[in-house]
Amino acid sequence: MTSILAAIAAPSTTTTLVHRATSGKVPWWRTAVIYQVYPRSFADGDGDGIGDLRGITARLGHLTRLGVDAVWLSPFYRSPQHDAGYDVADYRDIDPVFGTLEDADALIAETHRLGLRLIVDLVPNHTSSAHPWFRAALEAAPSSPERARYIFRDGKGARGEQPPNDWTSVFGGSAWTRVTEADGTAGQWYLHLFDTTQPDLDWTNPEVRAEFESVLRFWLDRGVDGFRVDVSHGLVKAEGLPDWPGPSAMIEGAHEGILGSEDGSTGAGDTGPMWDQDGVHEIYREWHRVLAEYDGERALVAEAWVEPLTRLARYVRTDEMQQAFNFSFLTTVWSPSALRSVITESLAANDAVEATTTWVLSNHDMVRHPSRLGLKLPGGKPNGIGIGDPQPDEALGLYRGRAATLLMLGLPGSSYLYQGEELGLPEHTTLPDDERQDPTWWRSEYTHRGRDGCRVPVPWSAEAPAYGFSPTGTSWLSQPELFARYALDTQVCVPGSTYEMYRTALRLRREFRLGSGSLAWVDGLSERAPEDVVTFVNRDVLVVTNLGAQTVQLSGDLEVLLSSADLPFGQAGEHGVAVPTDVTVWVRTRN
Ligand code: GLC
Ligand code: MG
Repeated sequence: MTSILAAIAAPSTTTTLVHRATSGKVPWWRTAVIYQVYPRSFADGDGDGIGDLRGITARLGHLTRLGVDAVWLSPFYRSPQHDAGYDVADYRDIDPVFGTLEDADALIAETHRLGLRLIVDLVPNHTSSAHPWFRAALEAAPSSPERARYIFRDGKGARGEQPPNDWTSVFGGSAWTRVTEADGTAGQWYLHLFDTTQPDLDWTNPEVRAEFESVLRFWLDRGVDGFRVDVSHGLVKAEGLPDWPGPSAMIEGAHEGILGSEDGSTGAGDTGPMWDQDGVHEIYREWHRVLAEYDGERALVAEAWVEPLTRLARYVRTDEMQQAFNFSFLTTVWSPSALRSVITESLAANDAVEATTTWVLSNHDMVRHPSRLGLKLPGGKPNGIGIGDPQPDEALGLYRGRAATLLMLGLPGSSYLYQGEELGLPEHTTLPDDERQDPTWWRSEYTHRGRDGCRVPVPWSAEAPAYGFSPTGTSWLSQPELFARYALDTQVCVPGSTYEMYRTALRLRREFRLGSGSLAWVDGLSERAPEDVVTFVNRDVLVVTNLGAQTVQLSGDLEVLLSSADLPFGQAGEHGVAVPTDVTVWVRTRN
């Protein structure tokens, strides 16, 4: 059999190897496709309109049929749900809305029975204000050990009436809230990088460290395969909490200038004294040692909005975490040069520390990728889309979204999928504002719509109440009518459906061992606007994404394994393959 590189070689073709394949058995997380379940919105077992653990357990078969390797569950802990569970009041219990500890045990057991791994979300930067520790801190006096678990400070000004520094919350407004002391007087201030109900812990306090080590063990003992570590670049703040003139935005807003650019800068990074301080690494080294005591390749994945990629790679050094989300990739605009740079840099930065690279296009904090790609600036990063905002082009977005997915799943490393993306689900871009629940909406004084639009419950069947999400037809956020067209039951066994495309991609990825594969850029394949094409070889598979205005013709005796859209001359490829604009193909040599 000729190699794909030999088959496509032409006088003008050059290749550049940027990442080598790994041979032999590798830990699961180096190559895994990990599916994010957002518990509120996946499947409602008890009919209250909010997804729950029993609902998830009952639907796990969907994930094995899809062909993913692991599941990441967003928080299910006891919580007042002011930030959809990212405000934890008890790290060792399940919120009644989601079920019980027994339900969690059953979910863990069923996941493992089906051969899937399970990662849970850990929220160590802050607790809920309803956490017993914070309640005790409010009742205790300034300088007490109870207050020392959080970041309480005296205010500035003659009567302490101004916040201790000028930091702003990621969700908008000040990052400080003043408390009333036991004697009724206006008192100290506490830091919350997120909502007022999410007080930041003080990670210089050994008691905080000991508590989280114990929480890790609690869940490791119950059998989870790892943790997604929320805001892992935020735990340690610069000494003295110096003023910071910039915004402390994490997910949105801070980089709007950069976002609008086509030059490949991605705007995924945070700067400022609240983020990415060197002290965080000591914590992850400790956690690494804790996980290493357990069998079965347990893993940590960093949610760290850190740039550049070499800085992010510090979180995945051999004695720290196993993976970090690649938000630089997620926030890259739909531009061939930008995509090429971010892919090259991602692989180089992670290879340098012997870590796996991850890829991700959607999650519960970002506008869904088909909708981002249907915007005027394809791949832009708006903080939510609502009525009155410029609306994405739904069909174009889906078309490009599918191409982006096949580009991602062709890359070596580990990939994250967000529930519903296997259906091609768009953002709910016309959610009524009075239904919004993300604190971003009011904390930004109604300027940023926030993240509800990507959190709308999943449509399972077109004809059922709440599209099969809930037996009673209730749904905590209303689903748009167009979800009927995306429901799973309209796509199963339908050739060319987005669901079947994902399934085939995951099967081929496994068959061709793309996860542990290689990456070599291929240039000069097509004479037409070669700079508009992202072309690489991973092991025996050639992946071509055409971002230019013209169809690209590939010659050679080729076989199309998979394409993100119908091709003009079919899939046979005897006379070469034509790749239209905004399409990705996976090709190999005919043999
Ligand atoms: C992370 C979560 C986000 C949450 C924030 C605060 O970014 O992904 O949903 O609001 O942390 O916990
Ligand atoms: Mg429910």
